[in-house]
Amino acid sequence: MRMTYLDHAATTPVLPEVRAAMARALEEDFGNPSSVHGYGRRARALVETAREQVAAAIGASPSEICFTGCGSEADNLALKGAVARHGGGHVVTTAIEHHAVLATAEYLRDRAGVALDVIGVGADGVVDPGAIAGAVGKGTAVVSVMAVNNEIGTLQPVTEIAAAVKAASGRTLVHTDAVQALGNIPVDVSSWGVDLAAFSAHKLGGPKGVGCLYVRSGVSLEPLIHGGGHEHGLRSGTLNVPGIVGFGAAAEIAAAEVGAKAARVRRLRDRLLEGMRAAVPDLVVNGDLERRSPNNLNVSLPGTEGETLLLLLDQAGIACSTGSACQSGALDPSHVLLALGVPPRLADASLRFTFGRDSTDADVDAVLEVLPRVVAQARRAA
Ligand SMILES: Cc1ncc(COP(=O)(O)O)c(C=O)c1O
Repeated sequence: MRMTYLDHAATTPVLPEVRAAMARALEEDFGNPSSVHGYGRRARALVETAREQVAAAIGASPSEICFTGCGSEADNLALKGAVARHGGGHVVTTAIEHHAVLATAEYLRDRAGVALDVIGVGADGVVDPGAIAGAVGKGTAVVSVMAVNNEIGTLQPVTEIAAAVKAASGRTLVHTDAVQALGNIPVDVSSWGVDLAAFSAHKLGGPKGVGCLYVRSGVSLEPLIHGGGHEHGLRSGTLNVPGIVGFGAAAEIAAAEVGAKAARVRRLRDRLLEGMRAAVPDLVVNGDLERRSPNNLNVSLPGTEGETLLLLLDQAGIACSTGSACQSGALDPSHVLLALGVPPRLADASLRFTFGRDSTDADVDAVLEVLPRVVAQARRAA
């Protein structure tokens, strides 16, 4: 059976170029980058090349990149590190964040006595900079607003948000979870005006278990992990050299190809939507269709359950998702769709298709071929 993978927001296949770079690092350059001998120096050189590649891909300087174990760790470091270092008693975030941000903010509220404002969104799924700035005060340690939503793909006005926050309180740090941005939209943390930004290699053709936090020069954070003082004392632990090498290679490709890829996946995405609308006229698109990552389509199919759709599509060789695949196993209605005001039954009937570098028209054809049967079957089962 031909397999169709349309779940690139959950994770992406490792690119062949990344695999080759990682294999070299695994087989030949096994040294500890902290060692002074030749093995160590070779591994250190690989890490520093990757740091340059990641920095160039996001518009930062290499010294502003702190490698982490994943995107979730980068988000945790941003929020907990800002609160602990700057002593602020207040955090502002949004109702549509990934749980790596939301659960961290709730932890700070419940366990560290931090006041928390979670700002809602309208049906378009786009955060209002004025609403964010309105919640910011002199005691706000950090504001966290994602760049691209992982479920509905909506693009957030990060530049406007950063400017509005800085105007409200010059001492407040601005963090953006940009895990779904790199590889899908152009990323330039300097022009965005943010202090902190989280990234994860496995969303852009790199390996799992490696990410980074951009920390603007001059910004200081309290570390989460103490030890040998790696990464300028911000994140101790022997560096994951093959993972970091893979991240660097993937980031370079992502930045170089983002324009061409966006045009290609947007056409595929729009073709899929057109075909789905023809087959299911009462289909509802969740979130703004224009201000959205070109690789994302999130729809509700009234009268069905997303879980049933997912299983039937899987049986037909098609992988997509409902709700957020990151909370493995949890199939409660998506907190993002509920935040948009989507009724719970319609939120339950949602499907997310996310395209990647390897997606083709054949993938769209495969979905459209089985969709009428799958929807009819799911409606009978509901
Ligand atoms: C927006 C967003 N933030 C953070 C993460 C977490 O990244 P990681 O899987 O590297 O921990 C994800 C993963 O799905 C994500 O989509």
